[in-house]
Amino acid sequence: MSSAVELWQRYQDWLYYHSELGLYVDISRIRFTPDFVTQMQPKFVKAFADMKALEAGAIANPDEQRMVGHYWLRTPEIAPTEELRRDITETIDRIEDFTKKVHTGVIHPPSAPKFTDILSIGIGGSALGPQFVAQCFNKADVPLKISFIDNCDPDGIDLVLDLLGDRLSTTLVLVISKSGGTPEAANGMKEVEFAFEKAGLNFTKHAIAITGVGSALEKYAIAQGWLDQFPMYDWIGGRTSELSAVGLVPAALQGIDIREMLRGANLMDAATRIEDIRQNPAAMLAMSWYFASNGKGEKDMVVLPYKDRLLLFSRYLQQLVMESLGKEQDLDGNTVYQGLAVYGNKGSTDQHAYVQQLREGVPNFFATFIEVLQDSITPHPEVEAGVVTGDYLLGFLQGTRNALYENGRDSITVTIPFVSELTVGALIALYERAVSFYASLVNINAYHQPGVEAGKKAGAKVLNLQQKLVSLLKSSNVSLSLEEIATKLDALEDIESLYHIARHLHANSKILLEGDLSKPATLKMMLIV
Ligand code: PA5
Repeated sequence: MSSAVELWQRYQDWLYYHSELGLYVDISRIRFTPDFVTQMQPKFVKAFADMKALEAGAIANPDEQRMVGHYWLRTPEIAPTEELRRDITETIDRIEDFTKKVHTGVIHPPSAPKFTDILSIGIGGSALGPQFVAQCFNKADVPLKISFIDNCDPDGIDLVLDLLGDRLSTTLVLVISKSGGTPEAANGMKEVEFAFEKAGLNFTKHAIAITGVGSALEKYAIAQGWLDQFPMYDWIGGRTSELSAVGLVPAALQGIDIREMLRGANLMDAATRIEDIRQNPAAMLAMSWYFASNGKGEKDMVVLPYKDRLLLFSRYLQQLVMESLGKEQDLDGNTVYQGLAVYGNKGSTDQHAYVQQLREGVPNFFATFIEVLQDSITPHPEVEAGVVTGDYLLGFLQGTRNALYENGRDSITVTIPFVSELTVGALIALYERAVSFYASLVNINAYHQPGVEAGKKAGAKVLNLQQKLVSLLKSSNVSLSLEEIATKLDALEDIESLYHIARHLHANSKILLEGDLSKPATLKMMLIV
């Protein structure tokens, strides 16, 4: 084990500081050796070259034959064509113009002078960024208060709508879906349309779409005469869309300074283009992940932001990292099962939960601490002589970092001065680029999501089976057993699926299951009319 003096030296040797952002990255508690850094140099030469090509407009997502342009969003001048540059800048201008009109009441609901709420409908990359940013800047007097429908759970939808109550009449609905065909978003929209209709409100006067150019959702929004649409492009992935219209529209409407978020990302992008691992914070992160997980995801990344406002950063990173890096095949078609598992919540809260295992249990992880230097903008009382609550937060973070290290558990610490639009934009850009670098290091495509698409298709198959089951029961005047149904539908290999569908329909009073519920094969069923 290194002595305190050696560790202090290692800390100083590896500490990265960005003066304009006030952001530090400390990878001194990841136990790589100088030899390891030397070994990684050629891999990083390739990673830097890959990033240069990607930013210049190469087809960096070969499976889908797409460019990968989220870095252009905050530096439009580097976008490869004039048309793309214009699209990016015009969209930001339009978002600001639209926001101004909503805030001043030029655009308002039919029955009131102003909108009071936003209801954002979307899932995955079309929800997690907006949720994370909303939490970062939440306050009592936001111009519009945001709620989210990000699932197919009817009870969850009921709760969101119940909490909105009468304010539905002054709610602006954002339907966010790049493809414009994701079932969760489409169902959320239909449920909300129905709620508006039930309340005697004209949904079209409340709705805007943020969606892929030419998508079914865009066509629907135009045909229905919705308030407006903002574009998503095929060169922006869902999980890297926070700084596109997907994230900027809800952020601007909540009074968040989107130009500052973009500036923070722009500054971080400039810093992470430097082709030297020691001077490039994203390269430092990617190298540390590679070392800690042996370039094979052998250890998980536990993200611990010691700040309530950053609570959702762990969830946001979980998607960004796992959906990008979790891939079966590498770019040469070899089966590699790559990935980096990410989980986390927040410190110091988690110290009273799973940090017990982190400190003493199975050492299958490395930690990432996110530290915020400024406690609060308001003065807080001393809780004991010379000590305020925020000092405890620092103490807990430092104490956990040291205890983990002493017990052979490595960590990275990212420190920002405060949670501001500038630093949040920078954090997003830092991790986006670390993911891009890591993908190059392990030779995978970080920009497609075949597993997500497969999940969407598998869900559709089950629903198709349900429709067949229901229509068969409709046409039958006697109860049928599972086996009879599976035989009639020529779906014997799907008999278990049919059972799960039947049990769900029974629980929701759509069909009646007769027989011993503990013996699925004996059950008979009929439709409840
Ligand atoms: O990052 C991704 O690509 C996904 O998580 C998508 O954002 C998610 O599946 C939602 O897709 P869409 O925006 O097309 O509705």
